[in-house]
This record gives sequence, C-alpha cells and structure tokens, in this order.
Amino acid sequence: MSDQIKSLLHQYGDDILCSEEFQSAFGQTHHKCMTVAEHSLGVAVVCLHMSAILQKMHIPVQERSLTVAALCHDLGIMGRHEKYKNDFECFGKHPEDSLEVIRNMIGEDEYDDIIENSVRRHMWPLTPVPPKYHEGVMLTAADKISAVMERLGRSPARKLDLRKVRQGS
Ligand SMILES: [Fe+2]
Ligand SMILES: [Fe+2]
Repeated sequence: MSDQIKSLLHQYGDDILCSEEFQSAFGQTHHKCMTVAEHSLGVAVVCLHMSAILQKMHIPVQERSLTVAALCHDLGIMGRHEKYKNDFECFGKHPEDSLEVIRNMIGEDEYDDIIENSVRRHMWPLTPVPPKYHEGVMLTAADKISAVMERLGRSPARKLDLRKVRQGS
C-alpha cells in the first residue's frame, strides 16, 4: 500500500478513526473472520486505490465523502444481535442505521448527498436500487472486493498499523 493511500486515509478519516463509534467497531466480528472496523478500513483502502486509478483517467472523485462513506458504511451494524431480529432484517436496515451514526458523528455541515446516497445504497446489487454517484458504485464494489479478500486472508487493511488506529492515533 502506498504512503499516499495511508496519508489520504488519515487526512480524511482521522476524526472518524479516533471516534468512540469507530473504536468500538474493533469489538464486533464481521464476515466471520474480521471486525467491523478492520473491514471498514479495508473498504476505504480499496476505494482510495480505485480513486487513484480514476483520477489518472481524469475522472474526478470526491475523496473525502468517499472515505467517510467507506469508513462508516457498516457502523450501523454495531450491536446487531440485540438490534435486529435476524440476518434479513440486519441486511435491510443497517445502511439506514449507519447514516444515523454518521450524522451524529460528523454533523450536518460535513454530511453530504454523496455520503448519504452511497451508504444508503451500498448493498446494491443485492438490493434493487443502484447508487446515484460513481463514489457509491466504487463503495459497493470495494465492499465486495474487501469481503472476498478478507475471506482469503488477504484483507486490504493488512498493511495498516492497526495497533496505531486502535489507539486512535
Ligand atoms: Fe453493509
Ligand atoms: Fe461492508
């Protein structure tokens, strides 16, 4: 992973990484082999790699919104066993619950329609309505890519210093 990706992750994501919400996401298992936080970091890393490629093709990417959406897209899933009746309900409701966490965490001034729509639609194509922005399409692709890599023991977040992130520094 390039230093540029790491520095973008910290530039756009430091407040989120240090937040209580994100730190507590290291305590919940996700995709059987990960935590919600590690998965979210992997998704953000893949998103930023994609962004670098698109920008080389002169396609502009709102990297801040993309990074926020990637780091927070699954935070609504925290406490899933107490909150949802079953996996089906979790599948349908966690994007909306993630949006509530984001609004409370970053405030209305930092919140934008790219974050809103991308997180809301991140389960596409497993849910019928596609994302409206290319950042949202990137998020849904990165979510699946990261999940597959995690299963293969090759999480995109594996080269980050997770100890440092866990301490919120
Ligand atoms: Fe999700
Ligand atoms: Fe996810």
